[in-house]
Amino acid sequence: MADYSSNLDRIDHLRRAHTLGREDMRILLESMTDPDEEYLYKQAREVCDHYYHKAVYLRGLIEFSSYCRNDCYYCGLRRSNRNAQRYRLGSDEIFACADQGYELGFRTIVLQSGEDLHYSDDDLCRIVSGIKERHPDCAVTLSVGEKSRESYQRYFDAGADRYLLRQETSSPEHYRHLHPPGLTIGNRKRCLNDLKDIGYQVGCGIMVGSPGQTIEDILEDLYYMSEFKPHMVGIGPFIPHRDTPFAHEKSGEVKDTLHLLAVIRLMLPMVLLPATTALGTIDPLGREKGILAGANVVMPNLSPSGVRDKYLLYDGKICTGDEAAECRHCMEHRISGIGYEVQVSRGDWCGMENGGLKR
Ligand code: 5AD
Ligand code: FES
Repeated sequence: MADYSSNLDRIDHLRRAHTLGREDMRILLESMTDPDEEYLYKQAREVCDHYYHKAVYLRGLIEFSSYCRNDCYYCGLRRSNRNAQRYRLGSDEIFACADQGYELGFRTIVLQSGEDLHYSDDDLCRIVSGIKERHPDCAVTLSVGEKSRESYQRYFDAGADRYLLRQETSSPEHYRHLHPPGLTIGNRKRCLNDLKDIGYQVGCGIMVGSPGQTIEDILEDLYYMSEFKPHMVGIGPFIPHRDTPFAHEKSGEVKDTLHLLAVIRLMLPMVLLPATTALGTIDPLGREKGILAGANVVMPNLSPSGVRDKYLLYDGKICTGDEAAECRHCMEHRISGIGYEVQVSRGDWCGMENGGLKR
């Protein structure tokens, strides 16, 4: 049973209580009018500005290997994709990228790859500790997929601060629709729990409009995130890749993505929320719109230009022809253009109990 008669009341309740009953959440997401939407974004912005002022945090993304042992139906890097161009960066190339990022002002380096077992735990630890030694004032974020708790502990001990691992969908049935047998939502959640328990700042997240996704699946994800309380949430639209089983599926919608960004900002007021590259790919102003709907992080690409066009999760990915410095300045320009300011500090989440954000 719905408790409210208007979406404006639902949005007010969500802002106040950081939650909303399932029926009201469903109605809000399914019947948003233009004025409701404006009001939702305004509330999300106010909450974000309260904690983060006008800061948008920059993370420098290094995509260090396009090899993947998995075969997710949506992903262009899936191992069955014979057309994917594969590359690996060696540790010296990764350090050179990180140095360049440091010079450009980045104080968070995100290391992302497919699930590539070519890099042993020792290799990954050496890469993490190498970056931390060269740049002790940088945070290192890893995004290398599902691993054992022991591996996660080793990377943490080597100096990794944060970890990104999207759950993709919280519904077991929908998870099976997106992944081949062998990958389970149970193991995904085990990973997320281990990461949090070890002490990482943890990011989870979903694709919006992925094939087979229903409003029920989205509600499951929202309640999962509200309970899990991640420090970061990555939300971007699904975009088909021509060499995957989902080649002919529709992309996710900009509006649906913006609605979810704003709802997540109200549910998890201090969360670090990127305006993703996928959102910038389906709409040229997608990242700006994301920030104006409650996002506060952008992740420009630092990968060497020679490999950038090979890390293709989906078709049409933006920035594959640009240099790191170009992306850095482009983001600065875009963000100041909407009245926000790029922040180059680490931008840690440190929770309300500590009185706000560590600078
Ligand atoms: N469209 C949009 N996002 C995708 N990802 C993977 N494939 C696609 C796609 N086709 C996202 C997944 C993954 C993250 C690294 O990229 O959510 O977790
Ligand atoms: Fe690479 Fe799924 S295909 S993580």
